[in-house]
Amino acid sequence: MVLTAVRLATRDTNLYTFRRADGAALPGARPGAHIVLHLPNGVERQYSLVDTGDDLKEYTVGVKLDPNSRGGSLYMHNQLRAGIEIQIESPRNNFPLIEDAEHVVLFAGGIGITPITSMVKRLVELGRSWELYYSSRSRADAAFREELEQHSQVHFHFDDEKGGVLPIGDIIAKLPKNAHLYCCGPMPMLSAFENATVDWPPGQLHVEYFTPKFTAAEEGGYIVELTRSKKELTIPPGKSILQMVREAGIDVPYSCEEGVCGACETRVISGEPDHRDSILSESEREQNTTMMICCSGSKSPRLVVDL
Ligand code: FES
Repeated sequence: MVLTAVRLATRDTNLYTFRRADGAALPGARPGAHIVLHLPNGVERQYSLVDTGDDLKEYTVGVKLDPNSRGGSLYMHNQLRAGIEIQIESPRNNFPLIEDAEHVVLFAGGIGITPITSMVKRLVELGRSWELYYSSRSRADAAFREELEQHSQVHFHFDDEKGGVLPIGDIIAKLPKNAHLYCCGPMPMLSAFENATVDWPPGQLHVEYFTPKFTAAEEGGYIVELTRSKKELTIPPGKSILQMVREAGIDVPYSCEEGVCGACETRVISGEPDHRDSILSESEREQNTTMMICCSGSKSPRLVVDL
């Protein structure tokens, strides 16, 4: 795809818009979806889409310059100019919006507003009941502020003006218990959200992680049987299942290698995975029907997977 525009969203966040070189329609995406960019420097990064729908001609993502960037945001801010071609994967969605919930409460922190803003557009379109708590360090750091100010359901929180972070626990304590809650933001905000919702029905909680929540399983010492490839791999300490599968010459999809994108999700046939991803819900973990092989290991001596 071709980068057709770079716009400023805040002082440290740019919006990048991509179109297919031939101008053809793109695969559709639902609110909360992300795309994976294969940058020319060899780095892959996933970013949430600002606009979603069935009939898309372009994809736009918001990228905040990370002071500790390892080659994603720094490269994009410094090197990407309109006209450059980038390989982009079809949208994937680990953070889908339940469109018929009685009430939706969205929490966004900083650049976490990107997937949330696509949800706002959809909820407005459907005429659903919703509200948004949007926090940022300051007014100048709030992307899409003017657009969101149009809606009375949006509650802004600027840390510098309020003298502290969003009191997420106090807000959640007062919410109706039939609401579906969504949260996307920095790790301290996600932790506060999870602490404040321990007694909520898990099916009503939706969280998007951009950085891993758990450390990867690196203990090794188990066998993975690949049914379709008819291979058995012994996973040594320090290696992931994904690494060993690739070393065995088997081509499998993967991207982040941190358990946050979902690209390497693999069906489990038997055995008990040691789930370390940031995507599966508690009930999905307990079912043990799928796993992310880039970061998860095995609690049983043998794991059989559909590869
Ligand atoms: Fe992203 Fe495994 S490669 S979750």
